[in-house]
Amino acid sequence: MSTQQEQPPETDDTSTETVESSTDAGPAPQDRRMEEKADRRARRERTADEIDAGTETVHLKVFRYDPEVAEKQEPRFDDFHVPFEKGMTVLDALIYARDEFDPSLTFRHSCRQAVCGSDAFFVNGRQRLGCQTQISDLDGPVRVEPLPHQDVVKDLVVDMGHFYEQMHAVEPYFQEEEDLPDGDLEEQFQTRENREKVKMSTRCIWCGACMSSCNIAAGDNEYLGPAAINKAYRFAMDDREGEELKEHRLRILEQEHGVWRCQTQFSCTEVCPKDIPLTEHIQELKREAVKKNLKFW
Ligand code: SF4
Ligand code: FES
Repeated sequence: MSTQQEQPPETDDTSTETVESSTDAGPAPQDRRMEEKADRRARRERTADEIDAGTETVHLKVFRYDPEVAEKQEPRFDDFHVPFEKGMTVLDALIYARDEFDPSLTFRHSCRQAVCGSDAFFVNGRQRLGCQTQISDLDGPVRVEPLPHQDVVKDLVVDMGHFYEQMHAVEPYFQEEEDLPDGDLEEQFQTRENREKVKMSTRCIWCGACMSSCNIAAGDNEYLGPAAINKAYRFAMDDREGEELKEHRLRILEQEHGVWRCQTQFSCTEVCPKDIPLTEHIQELKREAVKKNLKFW
């Protein structure tokens, strides 16, 4: 039995064309048929390309670990094959894998535009924001792991508690000098030059990528770390706080686990998704600490 459908005889079309052509100054029927055939072929080829693009997949290898489920307590990698789309980020691919294949796949994300800092992962051996990393920029298979040097809570979620403690240790907020006379608490203006100086340091989104990349932080749990030191820089270099407070901030930074632990390896600067010159800021604070302690007799 044939599954082919019987086609209407072409002669009807031809006769219609013949009638039309007799009153129409357009292309001859044969030429028009050739054009239509070419159009159909082009359409077929376009569709084939689109189908090909739609079936291209991204191979993700995702770290999995769940201490609360007996059979998932042994860390492993799961493979996901996600349909690729132009402009797809690592976060997009993870969301697809979670929504379509495994709803238990766990990771943090929120803004999807490199603002909240919640989706820093270790992607193909480097700390990156999932929402800022294009799949097309990566070699496959794309390996996604939680940030190194942090305790894993589940899958790609790490415990950020220690990172936040280090950030708070540098008192990341404006303070007032104790003996400010009445009236001095009015709006404090900042010069353009001073704003320019601290501008980059204000861009931190608390993602933890720098801390995770730092060998020193990995070996010294008390080291303040690049993000916290950068946060201290943001306030120590701001002219709106007085000299007394600057000295107070430098005292926090020159402690045993402060700026002097940095060995200028630049790993933090390389991975920071906001391009903050972290190592430069740390070096500048070292110079400030030396200046503060210089005495001339
Ligand atoms: S300094 Fe950069 S890498 Fe470090 S927490 Fe801030 S944004 Fe993230
Ligand atoms: S989801 Fe907010 S920084 Fe990526």
